[in-house]
Amino acid sequence: MPKAGPQSPEHSAAELLASNRELWDQWTDVHVESDFYAVDRFLEGESSLQSIELDELGEEVDGKSLLHLQCHFGLDSLSWARRGARVTGVDLSPRAIERARGLASRAGLAATFHARDVLELDLGRRFDVVFTSYGVLDWLRDLNRWAAVVAAHLEPGGLFYMVEFHPVLGLLDDGGRSLEGSYFPAAEPIRYKEKGTYADPDAAVDGTSYTWPHSLSEILSALLNAGLRIESFREFDFSPYDCFPFTREVAPGRSVIPGLEGKVPLCFSVRARAAGADA
Ligand SMILES: C[S@@+](CC[C@H](N)C(=O)[O-])C[C@H]1O[C@@H](n2cnc3c(N)ncnc32)[C@H](O)[C@@H]1O
Repeated sequence: MPKAGPQSPEHSAAELLASNRELWDQWTDVHVESDFYAVDRFLEGESSLQSIELDELGEEVDGKSLLHLQCHFGLDSLSWARRGARVTGVDLSPRAIERARGLASRAGLAATFHARDVLELDLGRRFDVVFTSYGVLDWLRDLNRWAAVVAAHLEPGGLFYMVEFHPVLGLLDDGGRSLEGSYFPAAEPIRYKEKGTYADPDAAVDGTSYTWPHSLSEILSALLNAGLRIESFREFDFSPYDCFPFTREVAPGRSVIPGLEGKVPLCFSVRARAAGADA
C-alpha cells in the first residue's frame, strides 16, 4: 500500500487519474504472476475471498446480481461468481480488465468486466449487491461521489458491503511503532514514487501514485449522505493480507503487527442497505 510521501504539485484531476491508471496497468501484470495473488490456486478451484467477507456476505450472494467496484484483475469477482453471483466487475485499469476477462475464460466462469473510473460510473442498471474490498478507498479523491455511485447502482433494499484496511494503518511508519502523517483527510493527494508493489517489492515498476487517505467518519458520512442505512460496522485486529512492512502472518489469512496484537485495528467492514424495500 502507498505510504505518505511529498504532497502533489499542481496537476489536473485527469492527470492524477492517468498516472494511477498507468501504475495499476504495470502492477496488474506483476500481480497476475505473483505468489501473493496465487492465480494457479484459484484456477485449481481455491477461493481468493477471505474469512471476513465470507463470514459476513458469503451466504447471501447465490443467485444475486453483484457489482464489484475496483475489482482489480477479477480474482475476487470470479470467486463470487463461483458462489453463484451474477457478477459485473469495474476497474480503472484497462490491463486489469483485460486480464479479468482472460481469467474468466480460463476458469470457465461467466462475468462481465468494464474499464471505468468508479467516480464516473453509470452502468444504467442496478444490482442486488455492491461489493468492494481491501485497498480501494485511498485511490478515490471524492467519497461523497463514490457513495452516490454505490447508491445509484443498488436495487431498492439492495446491500452494500465493503471490507477495507483500517485508516489508522496509514499513520504507522514502516516499523509500525511511530506515527507519521495525519489521520484526518487533507485537500491535496499524497504523491509517491512507486518502486515495486505490495505484492512483490522487488518488481521492476516505475510509476507515481496519487492517493487520498480517508478517515472513518468521512467514509461512514459519505454512505449516510448517499441515503444508505448502515446495518453494521466492525473493526478487526488482524489483516487477511500480509501486505504492510510492519505486519507478519501468524496463521493463514491472519496477519498482525508484532507486539501490538489485539491492540490496533487492521481492517473494518461496513454493511449498508439502500432504502426502498424491507431488508
Ligand atoms: C488494491 S486493488 C483492489 C483490491 C482487490 N481487493 C483485489 O486485490 O483484487 C485497487 C484497485 O482499484 C483500482 N482503482 C484505482 N482507482 C480507481 C478508480 N478511480 N476507479 C476504478 N478503479 C480504481 C485499481 O486499478 C486497482 O485494481
